[in-house]
Amino acid sequence: MKLLHVLSLVLASTVAVAAPTATAAGDACKVAYTVPNDWGSGFTAAVSITNTSSTAIDGWTLTFSFPGNQRITTGWGATWTQTSATAMSWNRTIAPGATLTGLGFNASYSGANSSPAEFRLNGQLCNAPSPGTKPLRDLAAAKGKYFGSAMTVTELEDTQNRDLTAREAGVITVGNEMKWDATEPSRGQFTFTGGDRIWAGAVAAGQRVRGHTLVWHNQTPQWVQDLPADQLRQAMLDHIREVAGHYRGKVFAWDVVNEAFEENGTRRQSFWQQKLGDGYLAEAFRAARAADPDAKLYYNDYNTDGLGAKSDAVYELVKSFKQQGVPIDGVGFQSHLLLGGVPASMRQNLQRFADLGVDVAITELDVRMRLPADSAKLATQAADYGAVAGACLAVSRCVGITTWSLSDKHSWIPSVFPGEGAALPFDAAFAPKPAYQALVTAFS
Ligand code: G3I
Repeated sequence: MKLLHVLSLVLASTVAVAAPTATAAGDACKVAYTVPNDWGSGFTAAVSITNTSSTAIDGWTLTFSFPGNQRITTGWGATWTQTSATAMSWNRTIAPGATLTGLGFNASYSGANSSPAEFRLNGQLCNAPSPGTKPLRDLAAAKGKYFGSAMTVTELEDTQNRDLTAREAGVITVGNEMKWDATEPSRGQFTFTGGDRIWAGAVAAGQRVRGHTLVWHNQTPQWVQDLPADQLRQAMLDHIREVAGHYRGKVFAWDVVNEAFEENGTRRQSFWQQKLGDGYLAEAFRAARAADPDAKLYYNDYNTDGLGAKSDAVYELVKSFKQQGVPIDGVGFQSHLLLGGVPASMRQNLQRFADLGVDVAITELDVRMRLPADSAKLATQAADYGAVAGACLAVSRCVGITTWSLSDKHSWIPSVFPGEGAALPFDAAFAPKPAYQALVTAFS
């Protein structure tokens, strides 16, 4: 059984637990907890505390629990006491709006190094949205849309992330665990462990699940890529039958084919295209319909959010599918956007697809910026999030918006675009950013 260590950080002029001057839960404090260094058996953590209330906090205690067996070895900036309260005296206040930095510690651990699920300052919960703010999933539902997030097993195991996602997201897209490398690592050997875990977590949180993705050129094992054409076609059909069959009745939609076009609108020269030619897309959609007749079948791509050569090509694909009776129900617009980069034609683009008789959805939204973030960039980002939500809200067949993770802590951006990040509506400490407020405003 995991040990629960309660850590108490006290910075007070007189007593350990000073009278709280903070007010209602959620509007008093913001705590940022980051792990700048983790060497497997130990780590360094940095903590900052912002007084988000309108009164000074004069003497405080910060408490939190580690979800694992982390043990603090040295702390700085304050006295750190693990397992029982109390310790330190230091005459300092935190003025309204001020941020106290320079707090941190080194700790040892084994197993997982998950972050504490919540922080309390003088007993008041920090980092919660303002009291009275309805979750985005409810606000979106009231507008006839869904709000969703991607989720991986790593994110599910991060209890703070899991709880935030349960609150805010009504739909989960499985981030990695339903992809080919996860579900059929060797031919005919199917494993659904990760996908099933995320599905079960979603059901427990009252969320619906989007399957992602059956046919893609990434995260597809080498054995697939090495097959000759006839065997590759059969492997694709077998894979779709087994994976979509396993999740039949459990997912409401599938990204059947992902990212099959180049930027100039020609077919992406993937191993699929090179070996099977143009027809593999229609074959994939037919196989998906046979495996799960009730799931909405989507084509999903990036840089197709506005009018342009690539979205024109997807448009022609959908049009030809409709003419030929190939089953397709929706088009996913990933919307991995650059700061200030929401295409002016986004609404018009979504509408032209809807007019073909398919649903449209924003499937992987994030808005990345060069780090560090500052208030001007965050304000631009908020406007971007609001514009994307506005485009979806303006198109009746736009069924919902999904962000690619909820918190900057779990974003894919920094590992792929070094020096960029801060792309999501919640920061790395799970505090809502202006982008979150913009979504609330758009859906309200
Ligand atoms: O599982 C291995 C692990 O064993 C290994 O130690 C580690 C070392 O790098 O890699 C792990 O695999 C990583 C995997 O995510 C799971 O964490 C891969 O390296 C990494 O490349 C992979 O990245 C995923 C990426 O797709 C791959 O293209 C991201 O998590 C995922 O968010 C991202 O999602 C895609 C959508 O599916 C499609 N649209 C674009 C979007 C962003 O790239």
